[in-house]
Amino acid sequence: MNSFRVKPLDEILATAEKHSLTRQLGAFQLTMLGIGAIIGTGIFVLTAEAAQKAGPGMMISFVIAGAVCALAALAYAELAAMVPVAGSAYTYTYAVMGEALAWTVGWALILEYAVSAGAVAVGWSGYFNGLLQSIGWGLPEFLRSGPYAGGSFNMVAFAVSLLITALLVLGTTESARVNAFLVLLKVAALTVFVIVAVPAAKTANFTPFLPTGWGSPLSGSGLGVLGAAASIFFAYVGFDAVSTAAEETKNPNRNIPIGLIGSLIVCTVYYLLVGYGAIGADGAQPMMVNGHALQPGSPQMAAACEGVHNLVCSKEALSFVLKDLGFPSLGYMVALAASIALPSVILMMIYGQTRIFFTMSRDGLLPKRLAKVHPRFHTPHVITMITGIAVAFFAALFPVGLLADVSNSGTLFAFAMVSLGVLVLRYTQPNRPRPFRIPNMLVWPICVGAVIGCVVLFLSLSEFTKYFFLGWAAAGLILYALYGMRNSDMARKSR
Ligand code: ALA
Repeated sequence: MNSFRVKPLDEILATAEKHSLTRQLGAFQLTMLGIGAIIGTGIFVLTAEAAQKAGPGMMISFVIAGAVCALAALAYAELAAMVPVAGSAYTYTYAVMGEALAWTVGWALILEYAVSAGAVAVGWSGYFNGLLQSIGWGLPEFLRSGPYAGGSFNMVAFAVSLLITALLVLGTTESARVNAFLVLLKVAALTVFVIVAVPAAKTANFTPFLPTGWGSPLSGSGLGVLGAAASIFFAYVGFDAVSTAAEETKNPNRNIPIGLIGSLIVCTVYYLLVGYGAIGADGAQPMMVNGHALQPGSPQMAAACEGVHNLVCSKEALSFVLKDLGFPSLGYMVALAASIALPSVILMMIYGQTRIFFTMSRDGLLPKRLAKVHPRFHTPHVITMITGIAVAFFAALFPVGLLADVSNSGTLFAFAMVSLGVLVLRYTQPNRPRPFRIPNMLVWPICVGAVIGCVVLFLSLSEFTKYFFLGWAAAGLILYALYGMRNSDMARKSR
């Protein structure tokens, strides 16, 4: 058995042609899909956690995480335009670095997509439970959050995941329309925030600028500018979901790069303005004990925040700032918009996950029957339902910060593999047409920069997350040895 066998690019393109999804998405819809997947729990919920880790220096964290994503987006654009089929990083790795690594990437993408869908559902449930309570329909305490956050079962996070799964089974077009409306809503909420908060920024709120220092990738504390960058990276995750829709895209050579890079640019501009507005208008110094910043999400932090009015303690950072600035009704509207719109991120993440599973089962690395396309809705309904049910359970049982960090670990691995893949293909297949091509003199700095950035951010995650990722990868390799290695199409052909 040869686990380093690669799947030739021409074969990948031919398989996709034979067994394909309908091409119906254009550049605008793709950019909306990208923004729909990007803006979510990261900016609406995790901004406060980043501020606790880095204080005003969080703004540099946004820049670092955004820069790593921008480099990776260029690599994705080159590969996605060259290989416009479903499967994203998994498919590219199969063509470039062989089956075993491709499987590992596909396995890591479960963290990126399914686990982050769960994280966003949990972040969203905080806002939604608050709204239910404010109209007197609050759920009992034990149904409001999972076992690690003081409850037993996060009912609304569970329910929203299943609802979105049903939408996805019904079809991409319908889902994309709902998505476009939700994207507009959250962009409107961020715009209102920027218009109100940015002019209110005061220079004094930026001092001290680096209360927790830069942090170190080797300390395992996850604090400082680098620790905050590794967590807030979650806010940018999602642009690559555009590439998972490659097989359903019209004129993918032009539209995929536009969707990938366009959505990332729009979101980065918003994030920098929102970060500047939040810190500048309200100030955000970390909660410290004996000169050490407390870990966000820890019981010590929760105790220190008791009765304290500080942005870093808030679960709804943007509304908190608007209320502080004397605009409580705007704060309420932003919370309402987040409650209505964050499900679009869950939708994109579950969508991305199903398309990756779809491609893996089409390749025989997962059982073929999972790739069945529904005769009427033309969607891979079996795998969509399985994914949705798994996401619903993650969301019901685990806390947001943990899910976000675990998701980041898988995403960073996939981004690094895609960036390496661009370099390898430049040497192994120099003459293959590249409808979107990173300029030759920049391809090394961009791809090597992306890999280094991913490694530094990965190392800056907490100790627990890093070990979890290694365990997950090992479990994946065992599964590959037991099933995919023998059953993949490539293995069957070589017998
Ligand atoms: N970037 C997405 C979010 O922040 C995953 O929710």
